[in-house]
Amino acid sequence: MQAWQISSFGIDSLQFAERPTSEPGPGQVRVKIGAVSFNYRDLMMIKGLYNPKLHLPRIPCSDGAGEVEAVGEGVTRWKTGDRVAGIFMQNWLDGPLTPVKAKGALGGDIDGMLAEQVVLHENGLVEMPRHLSFEEAATLPCAAVTAWNALAAGDVKPGSTVLIQGTGGVSIFALQFARLKGARVLGISGSAEKLERAISLGLDAGLNYRDHPEWDRWAVDETGGDGVDLIVEVGGQGTLARSLRAIRMGGTLAQVGVLSRSEEPLAVPTILHKQARIHGIYVGSRKDFADMNKAIALTRMRPVGASYHWDQAREVLKRMESASHFGKLVLTVG
Ligand SMILES: NC(=O)c1ccc[n+]([C@@H]2O[C@H](COP(=O)([O-])OP(=O)(O)OC[C@H]3O[C@@H](n4cnc5c(N)ncnc54)[C@H](OP(=O)(O)O)[C@@H]3O)[C@@H](O)[C@H]2O)c1
Repeated sequence: MQAWQISSFGIDSLQFAERPTSEPGPGQVRVKIGAVSFNYRDLMMIKGLYNPKLHLPRIPCSDGAGEVEAVGEGVTRWKTGDRVAGIFMQNWLDGPLTPVKAKGALGGDIDGMLAEQVVLHENGLVEMPRHLSFEEAATLPCAAVTAWNALAAGDVKPGSTVLIQGTGGVSIFALQFARLKGARVLGISGSAEKLERAISLGLDAGLNYRDHPEWDRWAVDETGGDGVDLIVEVGGQGTLARSLRAIRMGGTLAQVGVLSRSEEPLAVPTILHKQARIHGIYVGSRKDFADMNKAIALTRMRPVGASYHWDQAREVLKRMESASHFGKLVLTVG
């Protein structure tokens, strides 16, 4: 079977490799992968920025969906033909995260999904929402579960105000989930065209952060001077100070991303004066994924993104690097 693998770091070094087809052992299943989606983490992993000590060669990507094609001895959760998606951390099934559960992330600790077939423990999969294609379901394991948990951290209710940053994978899922919960959603983006697209998906108001870097003031004005209830913080160091200024007293920053840097010191007094809650998010468990899938199935929600051909992995990564995408970037496998 074919896979893309990291043999040395860099997008242009990502290469096709021929790997043997493995038979699933006891408790394992083999999945014929239909589609894989990319996350910013995969880009960093491939460039050697996520873990410079990554064990190579390594098949990248945490997110894929496909069909069970073989089951090992003793497997009870799946049968051939089931349509499944992998869970990000193969050992985090339920409950709070622990150091043991945090081991076994796909496309990092172990080989990932950018392959025609993968063999995983039967516990490391969830059933896909039935109305979704493989391309759509492949977008869910990292970005969607992260956005789902970011919204949960903010206890978002109808009438809450949520702010999203940018229009990448996590942020567009956060927009969709926030709308499902009846929240008002503000968004910032570096592109007027992408803001228009986000508005067509339900964004209530948007601001271009390149033209208006003081987006924190805008967000406060948009909420009648109070500040927003929740920010799904993907910017990291470069946006944290403004995010703290943009939330209301007692508001929440769901700290998700690391997209930008800043020399500005962390505004510690603002955290306490505002009684701000900073809640770190690290994807989520299998239970979170399954709960989210129920909501997606019930509301027939459809992920947003663009699909590319199996041999276009490097082009897709370059699109992500240049932030020219909207929502998710997906490869159809095979
Ligand atoms: N903690 C977790 O479990 C977890 C899970 C998933 C992702 N993440 C992290 O979350 C971040 C986003 O991941 P992703 O996969 O959604 O990335 P992505 O699809 O590549 O989206 C990134 C988008 O963010 C926007 N952006 C870039 N710099 C920005 C800035 N300084 N301020 C505001 N927006 C900015 C751009 O959108 P515009 O062009 O519209 O501005 C860009 O397209 C990454 O840092 C990733 O590592 C963390």
